[in-house]
Amino acid sequence: MTQLEAVSKGFTTLYGTDPDGVWQSPGRVNLIGEHTDYNDGFVLPLALPHAARVAVSRRDDGILRLHSSWADRVAEVVVADLAPGSVQGWAAYPAAVVWALREAGHAVAGGDVHLDSDVPVGAGLSSSAALECAVALAWNDLYGLGLTHQQIALLAQRAENDFVGVPCGVMDQMASSCCVEGAALFLDTRDLSSRQVPLDLAAEGLVLLVVDTQVKHDLADGAYAERRAGCERAAGLLGLPALRDLPLSGLDAALAQLPEPGLRALTRHVVTENARVEEVVALLDAGRTRQIGPVLTAGHASLRDDFAVSCAETDLVVATANAAGALGARMTGGGFGGSVIVLAEQADADRIAAEVADAFVEQGWQRPRSFAAVPSAGARRLA
Ligand code: GLA
Repeated sequence: MTQLEAVSKGFTTLYGTDPDGVWQSPGRVNLIGEHTDYNDGFVLPLALPHAARVAVSRRDDGILRLHSSWADRVAEVVVADLAPGSVQGWAAYPAAVVWALREAGHAVAGGDVHLDSDVPVGAGLSSSAALECAVALAWNDLYGLGLTHQQIALLAQRAENDFVGVPCGVMDQMASSCCVEGAALFLDTRDLSSRQVPLDLAAEGLVLLVVDTQVKHDLADGAYAERRAGCERAAGLLGLPALRDLPLSGLDAALAQLPEPGLRALTRHVVTENARVEEVVALLDAGRTRQIGPVLTAGHASLRDDFAVSCAETDLVVATANAAGALGARMTGGGFGGSVIVLAEQADADRIAAEVADAFVEQGWQRPRSFAAVPSAGARRLA
């Protein structure tokens, strides 16, 4: 059974009719540009083959019924009663999207929903953005809203910020909604201008491994908001709209103006990370893909030492992979666990993954899961 058949069949078994349609939206990894999106900076994510899939039938009676392949019951809510905090757990994400559409003035009502997803949860691979964008695209089509992929991403971000209560930037939703097969999305998060940067690693004998450490440290949420607030404070002290407005050439002078070492470290990361995104894009444009490896590793060092969002598990993957001959590696996503990307020669990839797994076993940690990231399509209708 294909994934499309599975989600359709799940819907039919549950609701007794065929769905009006099936939509999907992928998870992502970020090649470079971490913690830059809420600083109006640059990011370079790519969509994964792993995706959230949603089968939906429209209903005009204002009732929203939500079910997922991992839920034991159907959650039923009245659309007009949706308010931040009114729905908990996984069902908050699809509910949030319907709420955000109505907040944006779209006259949408309810639906019957069955969801499925193979994006690993808690792995820093944007399983929540995938759910949000799949649902937003479904409502867009079922209610004929005519939204662009960019508008869908912004709506999904609003859903997550204001309904679910996570102060994330726009990268994950833009990646899930707007990526295309065979490319990474070079996105300026200030004005949302973007360019698809072709990325055919296999043709160059390379592989981008995703190593999911399968750990998620508790401080993740509070620490993210703290970093974000620190960046905004640093920009304010420097008299800038955002840290994006500080060029690399002005970094030293700006650092001398910041009173606290913590703010200096946050600023140094964001400014150097924006420069790394531009460097990676320039290298990819020039066909010098192998040379992005050391830039990725430098990005990891900056996230570990300056931004302080790495952890022992992600550091061990990076160190072990690089010692085993990887071209470069870095944690990807928000941090405090989650996944690491490793750029390697195809011929070395299995051995590197095995050495990383052995290093985890030696520490008494659970073996990480690895797979190859192939740049895949963004949100689309399947049926
Ligand atoms: C999470 C957020 C994104 C981004 C990354 C860090 O994935 O959802 O908006 O800030 O962390 O780059």
